[in-house]
Amino acid sequence: MATAAAGTADCWRRTTLAGALPRTSAAFLFLSVVAVAAIISARWITATTAFQGRLARLPTATTAAIPAAVLHPAAEHPRPSAAAPLPPPTSRPPPPALYSISCPAPNLSQSHPTEPPKASQTLARALSSSSSTCASSPGPPPPASSAPPSSNRSCPSYFRFIHEDLRPWRAAGGVTRAMLGRARLTATFRLVVLGGRAYVQRLRPAFQTRDLFTIWGVLQLLRRYPGRVPDLDLMFDTVDWPVVRTHLYRGKYAEVMPPLFRYCGDDRTLDIVFPDWSFWGWPEINIKPWHALQEDLKDGNNRVRWMDREPYAYWKGNPSVSATRQELVKCNVSSTQDWNARIYAQDWFKESKTGYKDSDLGSQCSHRYKIYIEGSAWSISQKYILACDSMTLLVTPKYYDFFSRSLMPIQHYWPVRDDNKCASIKYAVDWGNSHKQLAQRIGKQASSFIQEELSMDQVYDYMLHLLTEYAKLLKFKPTKPPEAVEVCSESLACQAEGLEKKFLIDSMVKSARDAGPCDLPPPFSSRELKMLKQRGKNSVKQIEMWEQRALRA
Ligand SMILES: *[C@@H]1O[C@H](CO)[C@@H](O)[C@H](O)[C@H]1NC(C)=O
Ligand SMILES: *[C@@H]1O[C@H](CO)[C@@H](O)[C@H](O)[C@H]1NC(C)=O
Ligand SMILES: *[C@@H]1O[C@H](CO)[C@@H](O)[C@H](O)[C@H]1NC(C)=O
Repeated sequence: MATAAAGTADCWRRTTLAGALPRTSAAFLFLSVVAVAAIISARWITATTAFQGRLARLPTATTAAIPAAVLHPAAEHPRPSAAAPLPPPTSRPPPPALYSISCPAPNLSQSHPTEPPKASQTLARALSSSSSTCASSPGPPPPASSAPPSSNRSCPSYFRFIHEDLRPWRAAGGVTRAMLGRARLTATFRLVVLGGRAYVQRLRPAFQTRDLFTIWGVLQLLRRYPGRVPDLDLMFDTVDWPVVRTHLYRGKYAEVMPPLFRYCGDDRTLDIVFPDWSFWGWPEINIKPWHALQEDLKDGNNRVRWMDREPYAYWKGNPSVSATRQELVKCNVSSTQDWNARIYAQDWFKESKTGYKDSDLGSQCSHRYKIYIEGSAWSISQKYILACDSMTLLVTPKYYDFFSRSLMPIQHYWPVRDDNKCASIKYAVDWGNSHKQLAQRIGKQASSFIQEELSMDQVYDYMLHLLTEYAKLLKFKPTKPPEAVEVCSESLACQAEGLEKKFLIDSMVKSARDAGPCDLPPPFSSRELKMLKQRGKNSVKQIEMWEQRALRA
């Protein structure tokens, strides 16, 4: 199995090809993209499930100083107030009408293939037939004449990274058409919003339904905040790894710096991070839309008290996607050693045959400690793992997504070394079992973060603020590209079938939101940003020192 490094090279090769090949090679390109995508996904999936076995072994007690952040988390990292529910309508106009979708009756004379095609055709069908569907659907109401009502509610602190992600283009004086042209070289689709309507140009196939569910998310944002999403033109790349290397766009090259949206970034790239498709569902592996899954996780979390959970570190996922995960498997308990880790391999193929009975994310909170480790890039499993009150043992990540940059070691998780995983996990579990109150507090702070600061309300607000700030940077007036086709909730949902359709309908925004979004916090000053990074580093260093001391003892 290829390692993550090889995977990244694949990604780059595709990138170069996409830019260099003439149109005549489109067929070859398509095949190579499909092949790469298949490898990516096979190496990428992670999820966790419940483990029923009971292993009785007494944890060894370890003592160590108590980090200040555990005792005074609020002082370390103040949390903005939680999302307020919609205020009850008092003297306001009646609540907004519920949106609905009505699909035309299916064309029975159309011949249906007996075997459903392997790859979803929903987006392709919608793009080839939707102009009339969408044209007859009512447009959004005109933008509110007065400024949108302020919610007087500050957004979670991770929203501050919106300014960080856009800073390079602000410094370059804005986003030009030339920059977008450059971003197009690897983009999966181009999205244009004009007067609250969305137009999509598909540039190359995405893996599974990533593009469909990402575009669906934007359409739901348009329903939720009618008249508030500004006109814009953006390029979106649905492949795992960030590609806009910072060092390539210094000096005069900043003129072509591509503003490219994708799901994750790292410290050496400029890709703009956007919520991934799984918030609206991932039908291929039966992951429900986040608003429903979040409720399941909340219930699941209440099933077993922390003290009654297995006193070990649990992980279940696909180890073959990266070298680092294969190393993790070596930390598993065996007849000769016990690093306090209980590691299980997930077989998605088998799961798909048995209806995912063994991957119920709602019943995953069975251990006091849960390990998060990246696959070939960031993993969508992070939110599911953090949602248990179990303390997350986070193996030093290379990538970030839109919310993970505000997670702090010792406040939301316990850091685990990537270069000495087994000893590091053993130490973490021993520490937790001898500091149960503190370990529980770290677990609780993480699950509160997920429940309060990562609700769909916040996800939509993040999208609205990011797109609004991005649109302000455009130095041209967006227009509909001739190749782009209007998409709307009807055109996508009506073309979908099976679980795909169910997830689209389940994640559909049912009515416009009356109140404004949360207030976008200001950018970090360079000093604040430096201090934030330093604080994280110090906590990690502190723990590594304790580990060293324990190893010597
Ligand atoms: C139904 O499908 C058939 C075969 O594809 C086509 O000829 C016909 O025009 C369609 N009817 C409608 C109403 O779309
Ligand atoms: C929002 O806060 C401002 C300043 O604190 C206050 O003047 C205003 O009345 C508040 N608005 C609402 C709707 O609470
Ligand atoms: C880890 O050990 C447990 C207990 O022996 C075993 O059931 C499990 O299959 C092992 N995991 C892997 C990935 O080999």
